[in-house]
Amino acid sequence: MITVIGLGFVGLTTALGFSEKGLKVYGFDINKKKVNLIQNKKIPFFEKGLDEVLDKNLNNNFILTSSIEEAVKNSKVIIMCVGTPSDDNGRADLKYIKSALASILKATDKSDKKIVITKSTIPPSTTRNEIIPFIENMGFKTGEDVFVANNPEFLREGHAWDDFINPDRIVIGTDDEYTKKVMREIYSKFNVPIHFVTLNTGEFIKYLSNTFLSTLISYANEMSMIADSIGGIDIKSAFKIFHEDKRWFGNPANMQSYAYPGCGFGGYCLPKDTQALVQKAKEYNYDAKILNSVLMVNSEIKPHWIDKIKKTVSTDKNITVLGLSFKPESDDIRQTPALEIIKLLLEAGYKNIIAYDPIANDLFDKTYNLPIKYSKSLNEAVNASDTVVIATGWKEFKENKNIFSKKNIFDLRYIL
Ligand SMILES: NC(=O)c1ccc[n+]([C@@H]2O[C@H](COP(=O)([O-])OP(=O)(O)OC[C@H]3O[C@@H](n4cnc5c(N)ncnc54)[C@H](O)[C@@H]3O)[C@@H](O)[C@H]2O)c1
Repeated sequence: MITVIGLGFVGLTTALGFSEKGLKVYGFDINKKKVNLIQNKKIPFFEKGLDEVLDKNLNNNFILTSSIEEAVKNSKVIIMCVGTPSDDNGRADLKYIKSALASILKATDKSDKKIVITKSTIPPSTTRNEIIPFIENMGFKTGEDVFVANNPEFLREGHAWDDFINPDRIVIGTDDEYTKKVMREIYSKFNVPIHFVTLNTGEFIKYLSNTFLSTLISYANEMSMIADSIGGIDIKSAFKIFHEDKRWFGNPANMQSYAYPGCGFGGYCLPKDTQALVQKAKEYNYDAKILNSVLMVNSEIKPHWIDKIKKTVSTDKNITVLGLSFKPESDDIRQTPALEIIKLLLEAGYKNIIAYDPIANDLFDKTYNLPIKYSKSLNEAVNASDTVVIATGWKEFKENKNIFSKKNIFDLRYIL
């Protein structure tokens, strides 16, 4: 049996979802009004499709309880779906999580080996730095008497049922094998990949989604304000036509490659065009905050990588830099991130830099005339150093992963 604590949008959907899949689920909420409504087969909020599944599962697989003790005692897994609003400083307020945890632990016997899952959205490091210490302060040893995991929820209000029942993927942040085994059983009827990741990674993935969406929305709004300042721009049609770009729709060049970390954008278009629009907006008295931040982050990412390299590689060592063009399948080296990376390495005191690009070696050498050496082949380049920095995500590097196995590798494009 499972217990779901907190029967709001996420909790009630989760409880009914697992019931529908054949599991026995207890539901508990401290809000009596809400519980009464649910008891009378009424959904306390609008969410299409939920009333039918409530009607079908209530008092069958789904049991509402006013006794958290009873629910916890009879369950192997307890899933917390309570709210995590902002506190006065903008941090996630964990008061509901902590009060739910306290009630769960009060009803828990150490020998029961309960698994406590946080489905509520909690910032990365919360399980490790707040939830585990809280549990241990109550006299339990995590990983022995009580097991913890996070299991972020990606449902969208308005599509909650469909999103829960047909998820794209399931993410479980946990460090222990017992929890993995039980969670695999619980989600066995959902025919999607289950990703077991570290505690912090599980929490982080949810914030990747939400901050990406909020950034996109603010980006679109900033662009609409720039357009209004300049004038003569039909914002609605401009966005509609923008959405016809085939990169939105998948292969071969899809948007995923842009929402991906690396060592920054370069080339002939993105840096100069972003700068030019910031300047144009300024002429029209609009201060483009997001676009300015976009440029700032693009500069910061390179020294960030150099700092990482400096931590483990002394300046007398050889460093091989793979990839010189600003992107794979191109020999364009204008404003290429590799240039900045090599310059920063030289500034940091690395004197023995060996570079290799499948097609851009000569052009890069002629154009920038840097005091570095060039290799004629990938093999030669990799053999020349213990440290390898991948600055461009060429297919040749991905396809020859094995040659990097004994190297100190800095994969600035996350391709390996
Ligand atoms: N709403 C969404 O679309 C959505 C999507 C994904 C994730 N989330 C996250 O899921 C969590 C829950 O969101 P929600 O929209 O379902 O919130 P909600 O406010 O609708 O529901 C939370 C419920 O928890 C109950 N509760 C609080 N403390 C309790 C306790 N100690 N014991 C039992 N019940 C308690 C409240 O009475 C309430 O009914 C949040 O962390 C939210 O960020 C929300």
